[in-house]
Amino acid sequence: MADIQALKPVAQTEVQIDPRAIDRLVEDFYTKIASHPRLGPIFTTRNHNNWQPHLAKMKLFWRSVLLKTGEYKGSPPKAHLEIGELQSTDFAIWLEMFEETSSDCFPPDAAQIANEYARRIARSLWLTCFGTPFDKPPF
Ligand code: HEM
Repeated sequence: MADIQALKPVAQTEVQIDPRAIDRLVEDFYTKIASHPRLGPIFTTRNHNNWQPHLAKMKLFWRSVLLKTGEYKGSPPKAHLEIGELQSTDFAIWLEMFEETSSDCFPPDAAQIANEYARRIARSLWLTCFGTPFDKPPF
C-alpha cells in the first residue's frame, strides 16, 4: 500500500524562492559534501576535482524542483544505482547536511519546502537502491 502522505503535493503556493538562493544552496552544500570523510570521496573519485558540471546540473535540478522550470532532464535513479559504493546509511548523512545548508540559505518557510522535497526524493532514491517490498527508508 502506497504511503498516502507521500502522495500529497508539497504546499508551496505562498512561498517565493529566490533562484540566487538556490545557487548558493547548491554551492554551499557541495562545498560541505566535498570535505565530508564518507560522502566527499564518492564525488571526488568521479569528478576529478572539477565540480562545475555537477554544480551546474544540480542548479538545474533544484530550480526544476522548487521553481518548476523544467530545465533538468536526467535520471537520478539511474545515476545513483550506478554508484557501487553507496550505502543505505549515506542518505541520512546527506539529508542532515542538506537541511543544515538550506536553513542557512533560505528563509524558514522556503527551507521547510526544500527539505520536504529533499526528503521525499531521498526516500524514493533509497527505495530504488536498497528497498525491498518489506522495507521502509530509515529516515
Ligand atoms: C546518499 C547520498 C547521495 C550520494 C552519495 C549521491 C551521490 C551522487 C553522485 C556521485 C552523483 C554523480 C555525480 C557526477 O557524476 O558528477 C549524483 C548525481 C545526482 N544526485 Fe546524488 N547522491 C546522493 C543523494 C541524492 C539526493 C537525496 C538527491 C536529490 C534530492 C540527489 C540528486 C542527484 C541528482 C539530480 C544527480 C544528477 C543525476 C544526473 O546525472 O542527471 N542525490 N549523486
